[in-house]
Amino acid sequence: MGEMSEGIRIDMLRLIFSLPEQLLKGYQMGKEASFLSRRRFENVAIIGMGGSAIGGDIVRTIILQESSLPILVWRDYQIPPIINNKTLGFFVSYSGNTEETLCAYKEAKKRGSEVVAITSGGILAQEADKDGFLTIEVPKGMPPRSAIGFLTMPILGVLNKLRLSRSYEEDVVEASKILSKKMEVWRRRAVNISQRLYNMLPFVYSTSRLLDVVAYRWRCQLNENAKVLCHTGELPEQRHNEIMGFGAPDFVTRRIILIALVDQMTHPRNLFGMKLMLSLIKEDLGGTIWIKSEGVSPLSRIFSTIVVGDLVSVALAKRRKVDPVSIPRIDKLKEALR
Ligand code: PA5
Repeated sequence: MGEMSEGIRIDMLRLIFSLPEQLLKGYQMGKEASFLSRRRFENVAIIGMGGSAIGGDIVRTIILQESSLPILVWRDYQIPPIINNKTLGFFVSYSGNTEETLCAYKEAKKRGSEVVAITSGGILAQEADKDGFLTIEVPKGMPPRSAIGFLTMPILGVLNKLRLSRSYEEDVVEASKILSKKMEVWRRRAVNISQRLYNMLPFVYSTSRLLDVVAYRWRCQLNENAKVLCHTGELPEQRHNEIMGFGAPDFVTRRIILIALVDQMTHPRNLFGMKLMLSLIKEDLGGTIWIKSEGVSPLSRIFSTIVVGDLVSVALAKRRKVDPVSIPRIDKLKEALR
């Protein structure tokens, strides 16, 4: 059990176990939204921060696999010129009070973008309602990062409803089934992994572009839930630069556990390259862990590897005796900025 800044008691593990249901419900929320825009959009932008923005990366990764729809994920106050009156903008903020997202929202509205707000309330819900934009309300009382299904899936539902993408119905069902079936197995594996990560520095490497977002999610979850630093890298790129850095400072790199994320789309040369790289740096490493995605659809492969990372972050939090729910520094910073 952990505690949110509002004093709400939360069981983070239970929320991770709710993900299969979140995926199904979240997708339906998007499909059932009363959104009837007849505008022709030239691009889609997904704007948010932290746990509310990662869903944008997931959607973008999936859409990129199979469509030419230009799709952008943005995390800042100012927005680029490509976001204009031909843009469908998803503004995602769990609290609805994140200032970067609100500032970007104001500017997008000024430029005439069509907006869909995804939030549990706050200023974003009020503003979007006042401005006549669609708001998809997600359940309240959760840490934003644990609502990843509710914050991601409505975007896919709306895109399909507007015929900007295919239907993801079957993919969602597959992902939800795999997650439900494997959750307990993964939880036990996560406990073992957390033992290896204790007092070590995790480096999460993705070996296919489908899993870049997963590596980033691992990093954010290890940061926020387990309160540890984590680094991410991508293969083959890291083979052209970072490989030279292993070994210095030696007291740091010997404590690195390299977590390699592998997918059916991982190019054979990347797999071979990863193994070669490991053989070259093994003296300067603390160890390696391989994680393989499961399922057929990109959605299943992404979420099957995300969930393992989420579970590891909670298991490591327990091992470190820290609260996976509270994020005091982030709260203090937001408060001070307010
Ligand atoms: O997971 C978290 O709690 C954070 O990363 C938040 O998502 C981030 O600070 C943005 O807040 P919000 O999701 O309320 O817009």
